[in-house]
Amino acid sequence: MSQPIALVTGAGGEMGHLLIPALREQGVGVIALDLVELDESIREQCVETVTASILETDVLADLIGRHTPTYVFHLAAVLSRKAEIEPDLAHRVNVDGTYELLKLCRRAPEQTPVRFMFPSSIAVYGLPNPTVKQEAGAVKETEWTVPSGVYGCNKLYCELLGAHLTRTPGMPDFRSIRFPGLISAETLPAGGTTDYAPEMIHAAAQGRSYKCFVLRDAKLPFMTMPDGIDALVRLALADPGRLSRRAYNVRGFASKASDIRSEVLKHYPEADIGFDPDPARQVLVDSWPEDVDDTLAQKDWGFSPKHGLSQALSDYLVPAMKKRYAAVAGG
Ligand code: SER
Repeated sequence: MSQPIALVTGAGGEMGHLLIPALREQGVGVIALDLVELDESIREQCVETVTASILETDVLADLIGRHTPTYVFHLAAVLSRKAEIEPDLAHRVNVDGTYELLKLCRRAPEQTPVRFMFPSSIAVYGLPNPTVKQEAGAVKETEWTVPSGVYGCNKLYCELLGAHLTRTPGMPDFRSIRFPGLISAETLPAGGTTDYAPEMIHAAAQGRSYKCFVLRDAKLPFMTMPDGIDALVRLALADPGRLSRRAYNVRGFASKASDIRSEVLKHYPEADIGFDPDPARQVLVDSWPEDVDDTLAQKDWGFSPKHGLSQALSDYLVPAMKKRYAAVAGG
């Protein structure tokens, strides 16, 4: 049998860096697309790479036609903060881009449908105020799906659309994960609301001062990128009969910004981390749940994260960043 192929969009972003090697480990060949030219380190792992926008449907049609991917990992997206500033762009990329790609993945009804993996977000939830947020605690997938921001609206619509199309013969088998804030040692996010956590840690590892853009008490769920990638790959490989729904919560830990600061200080006692909240971003954080209930992901497809907050720092981030920044300093 020939090697299964995965199309990865937005491959040069944070998730792509770890997803591509993880797919290769599973024996999956990768075709990758990104708006900017991919690094040599990514290109050399792929069967083919293309520099194009997710909105260039002719380029995508050609790639899909030539490679007939078994999987699509549609990572390309405009994140939450940027989506508030540029809602038209966010709609085009996050909604139109997703719909067009779903249609391009159509197969003949008798063929096995493409498995279409869609990273969604805790932004699909909208709690009306911090008191309700605190009372709600860990929200289930069916609760509070009334997003307060453009990005959350985009993601929720695509989740619903994907689930709907899955019931149409020939359309993709759509599977989605509502990711919490993701923290990677390799890269930094851009344009997100949960960026303060990774930014705080990377700044400390480089000996730079950092002003956190949310309140000390702001609490959100997070997970490390390796746990996030493990979740995405597990769900992609899961037997369709095991799935009780199309969009799942996952989480590694739920922490206040001040808890993350304290944990960082254990490893970098000299770190200078202050707080200078940005009201526009605080509004989104206040509306996102302080934690999510991931019981269904555990039960249906064996989701099992390795890292709580303290392991995230001690077992993954601190050792990986030591190597990364030593390499940068050493040229
Ligand atoms: N991390 C994303 C953001 O902050 C949310 O999923 O935009």
